Amino acid sequence: MADQLPRIEEVDLRGQRVLLRADLNVTFEPETTNISDDSRIHATVPTIELLRRKGAKTILCSHLGRPKGSVVPDMRIEPVLRRTSEVLGAEVVALGGPIGSSVLEGVHGLSEGDVAMLENLRFNPGEEANDAGFARDLTSLADVFVNDAFGASHRSHASIVGVATILPTYPGLLMRAEIDALNRALSSDERPAIAILGGAKVADKLGIASSLAPNVDAILIGGGMIAAIIAAQGNPAGTSAVGKDEIEAAKVLLEDPALSTKLMFPSDLIVADEFSIDSSHHVVRADAKLTSGFILDIGPTSVARYTNVIESSNKIVWNGPMGLFEWPQFANGTSSIARAIADNEHAYKLAGGGSTVEAINAFGVSDRLSHLSTGGGASLEFLEGKVLPGVAALRQS
Ligand code: 3PG
Repeated sequence: MADQLPRIEEVDLRGQRVLLRADLNVTFEPETTNISDDSRIHATVPTIELLRRKGAKTILCSHLGRPKGSVVPDMRIEPVLRRTSEVLGAEVVALGGPIGSSVLEGVHGLSEGDVAMLENLRFNPGEEANDAGFARDLTSLADVFVNDAFGASHRSHASIVGVATILPTYPGLLMRAEIDALNRALSSDERPAIAILGGAKVADKLGIASSLAPNVDAILIGGGMIAAIIAAQGNPAGTSAVGKDEIEAAKVLLEDPALSTKLMFPSDLIVADEFSIDSSHHVVRADAKLTSGFILDIGPTSVARYTNVIESSNKIVWNGPMGLFEWPQFANGTSSIARAIADNEHAYKLAGGGSTVEAINAFGVSDRLSHLSTGGGASLEFLEGKVLPGVAALRQS
């Protein structure tokens, strides 16, 4: 639990240089530098504000995209810096770098309460290699390290793990909130508890299903992976080809007694004639032998059954949409599940994963869940029961 970690709130930081690692890996509108989802910036702001109130000189840093160790102009941190400054309502000084003498000079010029930002950490190959020299260069900028980058803490990178072995290290407020929320999701309390798992691939959800199964009463399944489950049962699943690996993964899911007794599958599906946004479509029973068409959503009877289960649950963990919600004709399953979760006012409700959070934001219910994890891969690995390197580094420092 995050309770066992040292608290940055209790440290005197006046005049101290604090290296604050955040996950500001935001999404952009296609082919532009217009940020489409700035929720990761908003989620980090409480920690930045705390550091400012404490009189620290904050050196904010993040990766952006996957530039693979070289400078990619389209992945410069500048749009993120600009938006952070707008959200914060204060100047954020551009330091460049992410390392070098001009960065040191910039840090030297900071006053108490100032906030500055380094260039995209992944422009330097040392970041992803967890290079000790790069970690040392980063730590030479600061007296204290605060890790608020929960969404990147499944990566053993220099700014996540390396710096934590050198500087006094503390979790940020977001990091603590994420650890507490995900541990609560994994605990056996608050029954009846359910997991709702969707998305395209069964293989991606096996780990989380196995890890959550002992502590939940039901696992509701939806999303594109339904096709693999139908195929694994020996039935035709429409036109879309289901890979061999996916069928094998589905068999594991169906044949593991610890899982199979808790699984709930849709009883009807929305099947489109073509894989296109405006395709004609119909409701079919899930046990129909589907010789053609594309399964793009769960059907109305399944929505009603799942809604009943959601209403009577005291804990709900959601990862993965129920269908192709980005296409309005196939959004009903996901939007209905999002609303049913939002309407349950007595449960603890956690959602994680990039597309799940996107759906929750799109359907306007984000403020009616207990916790929306900022992590994609990181939340999934945490819920799979893995120890994230960035979280382990906080414990060891
Ligand atoms: C994410 O978007 O999930 C995190 O920022 C991690 O990004 P990565 O998968 O490129 O390491």
